[in-house]
Amino acid sequence: MTLQVAVIGAGYWGPNLVRNFLASPQWRLAAVCDLDEVRARAVVGGTVGENSVDIETSLERLLARDDLDAVAIATPAHSHHGIVMAALAAGKHVVVEKPLASSTLEADEMIAAARDAERVLMCDHTYCYTPVVRRIREAIHSGEIGDVLFVDSIRINLGLVQPDVNVLWDLAPHDLSILDFILPGGLRPEVVAAHGADPIGAGRACVGYLTMPLPDGAMAHVHVNWLSPTKIRQMVVGGTKRTLVWDDQNPQQRLSIYDRGIDVDLTARTADMSDRRAAGVSYRLGDMYAPALPEREALAAMVTEFAAAISEQRPPLTDGLGGRRVLSVLEAATRSLDGGGRLADVPPTPPVAHWADSSTVVAS
Ligand SMILES: NC(=O)c1ccc[n+]([C@@H]2O[C@H](COP(=O)([O-])OP(=O)(O)OC[C@H]3O[C@@H](n4cnc5c(N)ncnc54)[C@H](O)[C@@H]3O)[C@@H](O)[C@H]2O)c1
Repeated sequence: MTLQVAVIGAGYWGPNLVRNFLASPQWRLAAVCDLDEVRARAVVGGTVGENSVDIETSLERLLARDDLDAVAIATPAHSHHGIVMAALAAGKHVVVEKPLASSTLEADEMIAAARDAERVLMCDHTYCYTPVVRRIREAIHSGEIGDVLFVDSIRINLGLVQPDVNVLWDLAPHDLSILDFILPGGLRPEVVAAHGADPIGAGRACVGYLTMPLPDGAMAHVHVNWLSPTKIRQMVVGGTKRTLVWDDQNPQQRLSIYDRGIDVDLTARTADMSDRRAAGVSYRLGDMYAPALPEREALAAMVTEFAAAISEQRPPLTDGLGGRRVLSVLEAATRSLDGGGRLADVPPTPPVAHWADSSTVVAS
């Protein structure tokens, strides 16, 4: 079955959605809507005949169409809540760009509205659809790396200083959504500490650090930065059996899996912990390998997942609850930043039963 979709927002990111919906066998792109007609026209310029795509400048007119199954929203974050609520009220399935909304309060309304309307609410956490992040998730969930000991994520480059949000709200949604996707049970820290700096007087943090204790004594750390002359996109996930190193700037070897680490033998422990052997600690030096990863565009997998969630009446891999968990950490990070870096509580995201299922959805 082919589903009909409209893309709302034809700025920087919208054209990527347009291209992927046009290329997808599951979808027919029926319309592109932007307040700026010229932009919308430029995006669909080449489509003709039965592939022709309507141009729309009125959201109200677009949502009144009864030939649309779904909309994909790529407008600025502050507008997500209003547009998503209107689309759900009009009976459309929705995929919305990250961040899901501007607050957990807005997210709660959107999640409840989707449940009541029995419509899919998906958040485009694009990285979760890359082959490398799928492989990392598999390595963690299958037990290949053992228990997670630490996660260290670095996302730094010379970035645009945003007029309305600090660097944590601009860049950390990527790291947090990846953590939500790869960690068993999703992203559920109880507390977060955030530190930020504004050494150029921009009026908001341009350098940011997040620290989150994870279950069983593990720790996650995220560094985001608009002021770095070099671009680094790296994540290290240390496990009891193996350690993953993802270097997104190295397409030849994006992912390395190290069979190296520390073994701890608690039975060998003595009272004198000053000696390494007495502490039961030994070092394992094994091989490193780099798994072959398919070259596939993440958004192609994202639009396929959106169609599958609709036809199978199930939550998508990156659902509204996942988007809300990210917002919950960001809100706590803001409180921590305002409090000079003290630990701030991260209120848990309550599970919500999926409309097509009597069981409770626990994690995406
Ligand atoms: N997934 C990713 O990796 C990724 C990357 C970049 C941006 N984004 C997200 O995409 C969204 C859009 O970002 P952008 O950089 O493309 O913004 P942008 O400002 O370049 O484009 C937004 C467009 O939306 C249009 N618009 C605004 N309000 C509208 C309305 N009510 N109805 C119709 N059109 C409207 C504007 O005219 C503009 O053309 C943001 O949420 C951003 O975080 C996601």
